[in-house]
Amino acid sequence: MVNDRYLTFALGKGRLANKTMELLESIGITCEEIKDKNTRKLIFVNEELKLKFFLSKGPDVPTYVEYGAADIGVVGSDTIMEENRNVYEVLDLGFGKCKMCVCGPASAAELLQHHERIRVASKYPRIARDYFYDQKHQTVDIIKLNGSVELGPIVNLTDVIVDIVETGSTLRENGLQVLEEICPLSARVIVNPVSMQMENERIKDIVTKLKEAISKQD
Ligand code: PRP
Repeated sequence: MVNDRYLTFALGKGRLANKTMELLESIGITCEEIKDKNTRKLIFVNEELKLKFFLSKGPDVPTYVEYGAADIGVVGSDTIMEENRNVYEVLDLGFGKCKMCVCGPASAAELLQHHERIRVASKYPRIARDYFYDQKHQTVDIIKLNGSVELGPIVNLTDVIVDIVETGSTLRENGLQVLEEICPLSARVIVNPVSMQMENERIKDIVTKLKEAISKQD
């Protein structure tokens, strides 16, 4: 029986999406239109394989997947943790590696050690709360920012930040450092729980091929 239902992928815009398309290409899943940098199109189709792809802001990917608007999503584990959606996490793609850390000026190390009531800036208030309240049992005030979080301690808004560190250059250039490591991060594949049942064979096939492709890269 031919399955005419399209499987839809939601990809977090930017570098992750490019890397994901490269990986999908290596297992025979292609989509030429998505590579066109000048296009304003939002959805891309591979008629032959009955696949659709769309690009969205990273934090929206788990939302699309939870509601079934996308069957499969690719997004960073930071976003998955922060959004806390009802999705299955099925594969670590091994790229987009970085770390979630508590960072600040060297002088803030003491405040952390003594469990002082400090101010924390973050794009990830849930991750910050879980870390300080549940793991460290430290009461803190969390201030949500939407980017350039490193400004927090520099302009004296907060004592520290909870943020992603990749190369460490943003910290270095702003006189900040990693004070505590929270967890490693990387790009993950997530799946809608109903799609996982209804389209089990197709999704399993894609995940198996992706796993093989990743292991060949190592
Ligand atoms: C991310 C993150 C850090 C920086 C870390 O920000 O929030 O600021 O990258 O990378 P590095 O360790 O290699 O310097 P992003 O570039 O996404 O911009 P934003 O701060 O505006 O969110």
